[in-house]
Amino acid sequence: MPPNQASPIPFPNNNSRLGPDGRLILVSNRLPVVLNQEDEQWQLRFAAGGLATGLRRPHRESKGLWIGWPGVVTAGGEVSETVQELLKSKGMVGVGLDEKQHDEYYTHCSNRCLWPLFHYFPERMTFNAEYWETYRSVNRKFADAVLEQVQPNDLVFIQDFHLTLVPAMLRQAMPNLRIGFFLHIPFPSSEIYRIFARREEVLQGILGADVVAFHTLGYVRHFRSAARHLLGLETRSTTIYHQNREVKLMAQPLGIEPADWQGSDDDAEGEVQREMKALKQAVAGRRIILGVERLDYTKGVPERLKAFAALLQEDPSLVEKVMMIQIAVPSRVEVEEYRDLRDEVDRLAGKINSEFGRPGLQALHYQFRGVRPSILRALYRLADVCLVTPLRDGLNLVAKEFVASRGQDDGVLVLGENTGAAWELGEALRVNSYDDQAMLQTLKRALNMPIAERMSRMKPMRERVASANVHVWAEKCLGAIRASDRPQLPTTFGKGQRHEFFREWSYADAAMLFLDYDGTLREFTAKPNDAIPTPEIRSLLTSLAQVRGLHTYVVSGRSDQLLVDWLGDTGIGLVAEHGASLRRPGKMNFESLVDGLNLDWRDEVHQLMLEFAARVPKSKVEEKPLGLAWHFRDAEPEQSRWQARELRQHLEELLQDRQAEVMRGNQVVEVRPLGVTKGRAVGQILAESQCRNPLILAAGDDRTDESMFLDLPNTAWTLLIGSRQSAARFCLADPAACRRLLAEFHAYTLKSSPAAGR
Ligand code: UDP
Ligand code: G6P
Repeated sequence: MPPNQASPIPFPNNNSRLGPDGRLILVSNRLPVVLNQEDEQWQLRFAAGGLATGLRRPHRESKGLWIGWPGVVTAGGEVSETVQELLKSKGMVGVGLDEKQHDEYYTHCSNRCLWPLFHYFPERMTFNAEYWETYRSVNRKFADAVLEQVQPNDLVFIQDFHLTLVPAMLRQAMPNLRIGFFLHIPFPSSEIYRIFARREEVLQGILGADVVAFHTLGYVRHFRSAARHLLGLETRSTTIYHQNREVKLMAQPLGIEPADWQGSDDDAEGEVQREMKALKQAVAGRRIILGVERLDYTKGVPERLKAFAALLQEDPSLVEKVMMIQIAVPSRVEVEEYRDLRDEVDRLAGKINSEFGRPGLQALHYQFRGVRPSILRALYRLADVCLVTPLRDGLNLVAKEFVASRGQDDGVLVLGENTGAAWELGEALRVNSYDDQAMLQTLKRALNMPIAERMSRMKPMRERVASANVHVWAEKCLGAIRASDRPQLPTTFGKGQRHEFFREWSYADAAMLFLDYDGTLREFTAKPNDAIPTPEIRSLLTSLAQVRGLHTYVVSGRSDQLLVDWLGDTGIGLVAEHGASLRRPGKMNFESLVDGLNLDWRDEVHQLMLEFAARVPKSKVEEKPLGLAWHFRDAEPEQSRWQARELRQHLEELLQDRQAEVMRGNQVVEVRPLGVTKGRAVGQILAESQCRNPLILAAGDDRTDESMFLDLPNTAWTLLIGSRQSAARFCLADPAACRRLLAEFHAYTLKSSPAAGR
């Protein structure tokens, strides 16, 4: 299949819970349309754009809806019935905005607050609490529009920074809805993001989604780190654990439709050829340096014009050999900063032409106006150098469009390194757009690059842009959202299961019980050391230890000494420190399950924890035989929670390449050796046991118990104590219910006839 023809997107997928009726509901600030009123009649035409191109097919095939603002402000903030009908016929639903909403939600909060902040221009950010209320209420309006339309099996895909609060609003109303969110702009370093007055709200808003996608892995990392440091959430590389859900993060850069840019025999080709001819005449044999973008201060247009001016300054005769064409598409003209930028660029352009132009030879063609697609195609094909040097850009499609247009594999792309596309287009000449010297040198290098080098750089980029196209982007994003089918919550362990479990006991050769302690056998207490076993627990465990053929283990994160003190005389087996050591039933000593561990991290971690303990009154460090823990249960809550995040961050960096990992617990930050899990320990016990086909029950309440649920055979009865997503098959409400089950089981063992061989 040619690289530009993506495989058809299988949508909807009958194998998923989406079912054959599930639709794709797209949500974006703007609908991909332009509305015009002529003679009282509304006319609608599609506005082509990367996003619309990529999502058109899945939208159509699923008979989906696209929900967004149709681009026209109305007095009452409503969309007229006529317009709504027009939109409906194209599978769209309009969300109306009045003047005030448009001004406060779009112009201020989106374009004057989030945009500069996320693009590393904090000095241009303005925040206004009152306007933020409007941002919230407009997000609510979008969410309500979705809720009016959506069905449980639908899949919702929300776009960009205008709608950061919508995912959580939908999640609250429909906890099982599948929701994706794509951020088309950078997510900044958490050090920048943290200055934002509504930082938690926006993070929590986005985290309502099942899948949060960005253009680059760098943005994923920044988002994850903001969630960890500002919300204190637990994160793994591409997962954030939030409100008992797993939010998946992914990096999937937007692509283009290569066929739109390659020379082809489509209807527009004749016009493109005519434009190319006219352009060639206009440039009179000079080489072309091209810049194309919305006029936005993130795009680095003044810096680029200055680099061109510096080039001509060095050698004014160059004006006979090169010229620059800068297309600046008007954008957000209602915002003061954009108007100021326009003035600045106008001045610069005038200066360049008056200083370096000659009669009949204009140095710079600058236009503050968009161009027709055919002209853009002609410009991309004829330019010798395309300067894509934003100061910061989420991705940048212009770079990809230029590359896709170079059918002859010549031309040079100069790419600012703070541009998302720089990660994919590694063969471009990279430049730090803030460095005027580097800009000048790179421009010279681009103009002087030999043809062989130009081709060897362009070809792989062109092929990559063709294959990682916009359809692949859509397929990957929608695939991930579709795959986020909510895992079923574990089934309640009811009468039926109880009956079945007891019945299996009657036939089994032997049975193994693996029981977590805190939160499973015993309720939590305010202070961990107060959670001593009650007489009921001790007597229950002692009774279980006496049943022939039944092997009972408490599998805990507690230290071996504490387990011995609390449960040593019950006769059951004890697994301490999350699987680090084992005392077999009836034995006196612990044996290590993790011999040969590398503990070279211990001293540094200990030192760091002691520093935190010294800084936070009433917090303390516990030394376990293998791990270390910093407890802050008794400390002042606000200060200690903040310090705990700091400590975790330091530890995670310290332990990056070491054989240890940071665990978060209830008011404790703990470090333990890597690879030591409860799952591994119970696996080892099972493997060493003589039982051929034992009945297995494992019960636990927290994340460390998940490894047991995952590592045990599928036939094991895995029981979550509590209610959340879990690898456990069944659940019980609380430790009391767990103890009741164990007591009933014990009673049953007394009357059931022992199985053969027991
Ligand atoms: N573009 C356009 N009209 C023009 C010049 C450019 O529609 O006169 C398009 C261009 O083809 C590209 C988009 O505008 O697809 C700009 O996207 P990009 O990702 O580069 O920047 P953004 O404007 O989204 O920040
Ligand atoms: C960026 C944003 C888009 C936005 C576009 C044009 O690409 O990520 O969401 O639509 O700029 O900006 P505008 O304010 O005109 O919609």
